[in-house]
Amino acid sequence: MPKTLTVLTGASRGLGAAMAEQLLQPGATLICLSRNANPALAPIAAQRGATLEQWAIDLVEAPGAAARLGAWLQSQDGEAFDSATLINNAAVLAAIAPLEDADPAEQSRALRVGLEAPLLLCAAFLRATRGWRARREGRCRLLNISSGLGRHAMASQANYCAVKAGLDHLSRAIALDQAHAPHPARVVSLAPGVIDTDMQVHLRGSDAARFPDRERFVALQASGQLDAPAVAAAKVLAFLQRSDFGAKPVADVRDA
Ligand SMILES: NC(=O)c1ccc[n+]([C@@H]2O[C@H](COP(=O)([O-])OP(=O)(O)OC[C@H]3O[C@@H](n4cnc5c(N)ncnc54)[C@H](OP(=O)(O)O)[C@@H]3O)[C@@H](O)[C@H]2O)c1
Repeated sequence: MPKTLTVLTGASRGLGAAMAEQLLQPGATLICLSRNANPALAPIAAQRGATLEQWAIDLVEAPGAAARLGAWLQSQDGEAFDSATLINNAAVLAAIAPLEDADPAEQSRALRVGLEAPLLLCAAFLRATRGWRARREGRCRLLNISSGLGRHAMASQANYCAVKAGLDHLSRAIALDQAHAPHPARVVSLAPGVIDTDMQVHLRGSDAARFPDRERFVALQASGQLDAPAVAAAKVLAFLQRSDFGAKPVADVRDA
């Protein structure tokens, strides 16, 4: 049975919760970071013989979160895991409105959770796993959950567009770093498709007068085009296992 380590942000609900459930296989170690715990996960871990830790972390405080992750990884035996994976999944939609009307504190929080935290967590993860067996054997992966909006701009979503475009370019740059590393980690910024989660509820519930594209999101749901979280999670995790994972640092799960 392979011994896998996965660090996953935002496992308390939505896509992250569905990925966590599917990652909890025999031999797996799963470390979840979000503000709230997910009570459904502990019984699944116990039943399947997986190891689960849920850290109550507010990713607004990104340096502290990255320091805690780095210290924990450094306390582990780097020979013990067959694979090591970081999935940066957590993100928030700031209020959907033109940037000039947006609350500065809320904008700052969304940037920290969506971009600063992934950057610092990637750095801590890469630093701590440098000498690990998984790294030497090519099974160290970074998966940043992006969005189509990182590639196509949308009105009233400037913050989210900037966060996701930033994740894409961060991933391209990390891939270039890793191309020069003796034991490279593989990195992908992946758009996961459209998923029936709180984030879509937030988009559909926004003020139409301030969000010109609101009807597109209403229509996506009405025409049954949203993936259930479990379906989207299965697609994303299948992508993670592809032998060519990392060949292109920016990808879309729908291109698979
Ligand atoms: N839903 C879609 O259609 C869609 C489309 C494209 C891309 N995506 C991307 O897919 C990912 C998951 O989206 P989702 O729809 O599943 O979102 P969601 O249902 O809103 O869940 C967001 C997750 O992020 C965590 N989070 C939020 N703020 C946090 C903070 N300050 N500190 C720590 N964790 C925090 C939440 O946990 P807590 O509240 O417990 O902290 C929650 O687990 C995101 O990166 C999103 O941008 C989604």
